[in-house]
Amino acid sequence: MSFTLAGVTRRYTVPGDRPWRRVVRTALDGLDLEVPAGRDLAVVGASGSGKSTLLRVLLALEAPEAGTVRFRGEVVTPRRPGALRRAVGVVAQDPGSSLDPRLPVGASLREPLECAGVPGDHGERVAELLDAVGLDPAVADRRPAAFSGGERQRIALARALATRPAVLVADEPFSAVDPTTRRRLVTLVGHLARASGTRLLLVSHDLGIAQRLCADVAVLAAGRVVETGPIDDVLARPSADATRALLDAVLGVEVP
Ligand SMILES: Nc1ncnc2c1ncn2[C@@H]1O[C@H](COP(=O)(O)OP(=O)(O)OP(=O)(O)O)[C@@H](O)[C@H]1O
Ligand SMILES: [Mg+2]
Repeated sequence: MSFTLAGVTRRYTVPGDRPWRRVVRTALDGLDLEVPAGRDLAVVGASGSGKSTLLRVLLALEAPEAGTVRFRGEVVTPRRPGALRRAVGVVAQDPGSSLDPRLPVGASLREPLECAGVPGDHGERVAELLDAVGLDPAVADRRPAAFSGGERQRIALARALATRPAVLVADEPFSAVDPTTRRRLVTLVGHLARASGTRLLLVSHDLGIAQRLCADVAVLAAGRVVETGPIDDVLARPSADATRALLDAVLGVEVP
């Protein structure tokens, strides 16, 4: 098992409609999820269902108020992430903006390798990574502002894959680009993950993309996993209302 979440609750306290009022939002509500090793999982669900929160908790970037997150059987927390950080590459929601604007992209690609203590100057690996995402290695000395949104997404992807992580965790990595670029990026992610033996854990609004890249799906609604299993089966025979609603939205028809 790679990730196991048991009874995970994450709440946020936000300002209410009066200065002295506070509203508690339950983003994850006793969520259970098992992500088997060697499988690709898509996490889908309506906006606000808790997908991004799930990723932050699963990556031990935030601690839940209740429940446990395990990675390869070990409990992980923000203070003790164990083997997690090294095993996982992350592409954030709006990945283009996750690159440091002051750094040449070559330096951004080198950074995870340095953090992981990989020896050498990484020049070759940086060139290889840029080439893998379809960019000319000569662009390594340019800053992010010199690239288009789609190119920045590819660079963010290259960065996440730099250390050949066991798992690539990506939050809507294809949302900020046009449909043609999106199609290319989806194909690219599939190829790169397969080439490096990296498993995918992907949040997506887009059921088509989820189905294309992942064999399994977990459907979130109101901070819980309401349905999970092989994605082809779940989409063909949805059992949860939330899954039907997502399918309705795609097909524009009622799913019985
Ligand atoms: N840092 C935060 N502070 C306050 N509330 C938050 C925070 N993060 C999430 N929430 C709330 O928790 C709920 C779940 O949010 P989350 O971002 O996980 O949803 P999501 O499924 O990723 O949505 P989207 O598809 O729009 O990205 C929402 O009600 C949101 O407003
Ligand atoms: Mg989100």
